[in-house]
Amino acid sequence: MATLVTGGAGYVGGHVVVALHEAGRDVVIVDDFSNASTRTVDAIRGLTAGSLPVVEGDAGDQAAMERIFDRHRIDSVVHLAARKSVAESLERPLAYYRSNLVSTVCVAEVMIERGVDRFVFSSSAVVYGEPAETPVTEQTELGPPLNPYGASKAMSEQILRDAAASSGLRVALLRYFNPAGAHPSGMIGEDPRGTPANLVPRVMQVAAGRLDRVEVFGCDYDTSDGTAVRDYVHVVDLAQGHAAALDALERGEGPFEAEGTVAYNLGAGRGHTVLEVIAAASEAVGFAIPHAPVERRPGDAAAIWADCRRASAELGWTARRDLGAMMRDHWNWQRRHPDGYASQ
Ligand code: WQD
Repeated sequence: MATLVTGGAGYVGGHVVVALHEAGRDVVIVDDFSNASTRTVDAIRGLTAGSLPVVEGDAGDQAAMERIFDRHRIDSVVHLAARKSVAESLERPLAYYRSNLVSTVCVAEVMIERGVDRFVFSSSAVVYGEPAETPVTEQTELGPPLNPYGASKAMSEQILRDAAASSGLRVALLRYFNPAGAHPSGMIGEDPRGTPANLVPRVMQVAAGRLDRVEVFGCDYDTSDGTAVRDYVHVVDLAQGHAAALDALERGEGPFEAEGTVAYNLGAGRGHTVLEVIAAASEAVGFAIPHAPVERRPGDAAAIWADCRRASAELGWTARRDLGAMMRDHWNWQRRHPDGYASQ
């Protein structure tokens, strides 16, 4: 039996595939390669002995998904395939709703048709919007979406709640905070198409000489140093959280029986400011990374970090790697791949 990982050739996806392999699970990848390189698959295969079927396809294509379930013995799904740029979602909201909602409906429909009931969904801290309190727990009220990307994740969660309430589907909603870092081998890592929107890949591309400087979006927030606070979580820890969620679904214990759908915060449980991230990255690369203050970015929350006690208690999962490890591992990937997988 195998776990189908949609979006398995992406940054988080590739690390999830490696983590599931290391946990002894067989995996099938489906990816449309719209935001991933086929070279990623070669790198993932370098870290996972044995068979790793890869299907090029769209998780929102019902016929394609039916064929995958016909050809492979799928007993669970980790659904990561989605568009995930906040800025792009503001420019192309309908593309985000089509891609992120249709794929979620399609995957759930095929699973229910085939009697496959274990579903791990890649959600995001963005569903909390601008939280009234921080750290946020899974009971924190989901604020008004700050952008169509966030709205698509909140809607996807609701779609899966409704699907689980009317079928045997059982769903773990994993709310990622800010993934960073790379597998310690330096063979897989973050390789965004075009100029990255996120802080850490931008910092690392400045360190690699691909960008001139880091623009710090706002230095007048009510935080320790005036820059915004986020909960950065090592992508290897995050990936292992998916394996822990599948194990919990397999055991069928606790809330999955009662509610069918359970949300878990996957973060480090602490916040760091933008300047602290830049300082940690500078320490990792061995020189001061150039940066300059600019205006705030519209839609940014001042501060958000996670309370992860539920994941610890029910999944037996906690993030083990700190910010320094994230920066060292991210740099280890970036310096080996200054132009991403194209450097291979
Ligand atoms: C982090 C902090 C910026 C870039 C988004 C999604 C979230 C998740 C991660 C998918 C903020 C500041 C950034 C830069 C900066 N994606 N920043 N200069 O916005 O917290 O979260 O990406 O799951 O769902 O919402 O991440 O890395 O863009 O920003 O100062 O060049 O860094 O203002 O405070 P964000 P980010």
